[in-house]
Amino acid sequence: MTRVTLTRYLIEQQRAHNNIPAELRLLIEVVARACKSIGHHVSKGALGGVLGSAETENIQGEIQKKLDVISNEIMLEANEWGGHLAALASEEMEDVHPIPNRYPRGEYLLLLDPLDGSSNIDVNVSIGTIFSVLKCPEGMEPNEAAFLQPGVRQVAAGYAIYGPQTMLVLTFGFGVQAFTLDRETFSWVLTQEQMRIPPDTQEFAINMSNQRHWEAPVQRYVTELLAGRTGPRGKDFNMRWIASMVADVHRILTRGGIFMYPRDAREPDKPGKLRLMYEANPMALIVEEAGGAATNGQQRILEIPPEKLHQRVAVFLGSKNEVERVTQYHG
Ligand code: AHG
Ligand code: MN
Ligand code: MN
Repeated sequence: MTRVTLTRYLIEQQRAHNNIPAELRLLIEVVARACKSIGHHVSKGALGGVLGSAETENIQGEIQKKLDVISNEIMLEANEWGGHLAALASEEMEDVHPIPNRYPRGEYLLLLDPLDGSSNIDVNVSIGTIFSVLKCPEGMEPNEAAFLQPGVRQVAAGYAIYGPQTMLVLTFGFGVQAFTLDRETFSWVLTQEQMRIPPDTQEFAINMSNQRHWEAPVQRYVTELLAGRTGPRGKDFNMRWIASMVADVHRILTRGGIFMYPRDAREPDKPGKLRLMYEANPMALIVEEAGGAATNGQQRILEIPPEKLHQRVAVFLGSKNEVERVTQYHG
């Protein structure tokens, strides 16, 4: 069997369908290389001195882990000089980071969750990196306003997962492909083409400890799932919650399921925990491209007009029929 590397996949796609321009290919290759480097640091654990907290706070008011900071730096360093980007934005940086003047500027904008699932770093559970790519609107400075485009405008999105296997999952808006890191050649090898999420599922993912804070539609939906075979749904449901969005989404892409992080009453001014621009949007594009659905309970996540870089959003994503049901319950 011929092994298709990431480079070969990107070049052959462009040749056959003219849908991955050279600059975008370069960008994705740089991001993918940076993910290998992050994965390398992750795997060193205590031996690399990468565990524990950095004792600094990010813009979200969260204490940064050492790996949050390291991963952000790896991404910055890898992407600054290549000439493919106009600017970057990240969970770990308050403001947009324009490409410094000493380097050529490209036309793309890159949004990052450099390290997703920070609470799992020190306990050796799967974590990841999420990214989203937009085009800088013509004639616009690459400032915050340039980034505030709805998710439907993403030209690419993906994530790396650092788990038992290190994988890269990618979409350019024509299906979802997965690559596995070959640790002998240190290259990404195509291992799954056109991933599909089954429309029905018997598995859900939500942090149940927040139940008392949920709004009525989510209370109703989850109560019905928990009622199982003798309840209104007439079947039993299983539950998983990894607390790394990347790992929960990866499971759903692989065998179906619904993932929920609803808005709740803990911080009533915040519409949920997850961030629209670098968590919800890229995952929504991937999930939709695999035949699933993604909403905030009211509308498609990909159609939400962003107002702020670090804006939060409620998230319901995964198997289509379940996402549609919980969205209907929101009226
Ligand atoms: P991050 O580590 O980038 O801040 O993201 C963590 C997110 C997401 O990955 C996960 O689904 C969720 O937080 C878990 O939240 P709880 O700890 O509230 O369950
Ligand atoms: Mn995250
Ligand atoms: Mn993060």
